[in-house]
Amino acid sequence: MSVAETKLLTRRISSNEDGTTVPCFDPEAYLADGGYAALKKALRTGPEAVIEDVKRSQLTGRGGAGFPTGLKWQFTAREQRGPKYLLCNADEGEIGTRKDRLLLEGDPYRVLEGMTIAAYAIGAEKGIVYFNEHYRGIARQWEGMIAEAEQAGLLGDNVLGEGLRFHVKVCLGRGLYIAGEEMALIASIEGRRPESRPKPPFPAVAGLLGLPTCVNNVETLANVPDIVERGADWFLSFGLEGDHGTRLITLSGDVAQECVREVEVGACTIREAVEAFARGTLHGGPIKAVQPGGGTSAFLRGDSADALIARGPIADAGSSIGTAGIIAYEEGHSMVEAVARLLDYYGRASCGRCAPCRIGTVRTLEIIRRFQAGGAAPEDLERLKRIGRTCIAASTCGLGQSFPLPVLSALELFPEEFANGIASAQAGRR
Ligand SMILES: Cc1cc2nc3c(=O)[nH]c(=O)nc-3n(C[C@H](O)[C@H](O)[C@H](O)COP(=O)(O)O)c2cc1C
Repeated sequence: MSVAETKLLTRRISSNEDGTTVPCFDPEAYLADGGYAALKKALRTGPEAVIEDVKRSQLTGRGGAGFPTGLKWQFTAREQRGPKYLLCNADEGEIGTRKDRLLLEGDPYRVLEGMTIAAYAIGAEKGIVYFNEHYRGIARQWEGMIAEAEQAGLLGDNVLGEGLRFHVKVCLGRGLYIAGEEMALIASIEGRRPESRPKPPFPAVAGLLGLPTCVNNVETLANVPDIVERGADWFLSFGLEGDHGTRLITLSGDVAQECVREVEVGACTIREAVEAFARGTLHGGPIKAVQPGGGTSAFLRGDSADALIARGPIADAGSSIGTAGIIAYEEGHSMVEAVARLLDYYGRASCGRCAPCRIGTVRTLEIIRRFQAGGAAPEDLERLKRIGRTCIAASTCGLGQSFPLPVLSALELFPEEFANGIASAQAGRR
C-alpha cells in the first residue's frame, strides 16, 4: 500500500534540504495565495454562522483533549461579560510532539487568520499567543509579524477595513510543560506560577483575569480558515465517521528519521507511517511498543501498530490519539527505562498544587528506579498500580490524570520486564 501525505494545513509549507522548515512571515505571499478569503467570508456570514459551520465540521481540538471546537466557541460566545480573550496555545511541551512548530514557522498567517476568525466568532477583541521558552526565536518572529499585520490592516482597530477590532500579543513562557495546561497557561499569562486549578468554572466562563476565554491549540486554529472558506462538507469529506480532516503526526523515538507529516485521519496505520515517513525503525528491527498520542498516552504493543491513525481505532487498541505524537520503541528497548525517562520529565513538570500528582510522580519514579536497579520488592508492583489509579482518580488536571497511563500500560503489557527488576529475581539468577 502506498502511503502519502494529505497536505491541507501544510500545503504552503516547504522544507530546507536539512529538513528544517522554511519560515514564511510574508503577508503578501499569504494574501496572494488566497489568504484572508475565509475571514472575509466570515465577516459576511456573521459569527453565529461561523460557529455553526465549525460545529458541523466536527473539528476537535488538536491540543490533546479532543474537545469539539465549535462547542467551545459557542460556550464562550454565549457569555455576556467582556472583554473576552482568545488564547492560542503554542506551548507544545508534550514529549514526542513538534507539530505546532511547523505551522508557527511555516504558515504563521494561517494560524493568525484562524485566531482572527475564532475571535470574531466568540466576540473577543484581544488575543494572546503563548509560546514555550524553547520557541523564543519563533516568538520574536511572531512579534515582528504582528507589527507588520497591523500595518497591513490585518490586525488592529479596523481589520480588513471592516470595522473588526482584534489585537494580538505574544507571551513567552518559561519552558514548563505544565504551562500548556489551559488553567496553568492562564495563570502564567497573568504573571502567576503556572498552576492548574479545578474546573468548573471553565475558561469560557472565568478564564484570563476572570473573564470569558477560549483556549485553542495552534493546529486547531490552523484548520479554521479552510473550514470557513470551503465549508463543513468539504472538511467532512476527509477522514472517518465522526473524526475528520487531517492530523499532523510527529514520528519520534526509535525511528530512522524523526519527522512531522500531515495525514488524512484514518488513511494509514501507525506502522505504515513509521515505514513510509520515518524510514522505519532505528536499527531496522520490529516495533516493540508505541505511544500513539505523545508521552502521556498509554503504550500499545507492537502488533497494535496496525491500528489506523484515528481516534476510534487507537482507542479500541487501548490508548488515545492525544497530540498524535507517535513514539516508537524498537525491539530491545527496555520498557522500564522508557517509563523512567517519561516519569523523570513528568515528575519535574508537576505544578505541585494537588497532592496526588505532586506526591504520585515522585513516588512512582522512586519505585521505577528500584526496578531499574534490580532492587524492587514484589509489593512495588502493587504500589505502582495503586498510586497510578489514585492519581488518575484524584488529580486536578490532565497531567496527574495521565502520567500513570504509560506506567500502568507498561506493567500490563510487559510484566516480565518489571519482574526482572525485583530483587528476589536477581538473587535467584546468581
Ligand atoms: C499537562 C498538560 C499540558 C498541555 N500542554 C498543551 C500544549 O502544549 N498545547 C496545547 O495546545 N494543549 C495543551 N494541553 C491541553 C490544553 O489544556 C487545552 O486542552 C488545549 O490547549 C485546548 O485547545 P484545543 O481544544 O484546540 O485542543 C495540555 C494539557 C495538559 C494537562
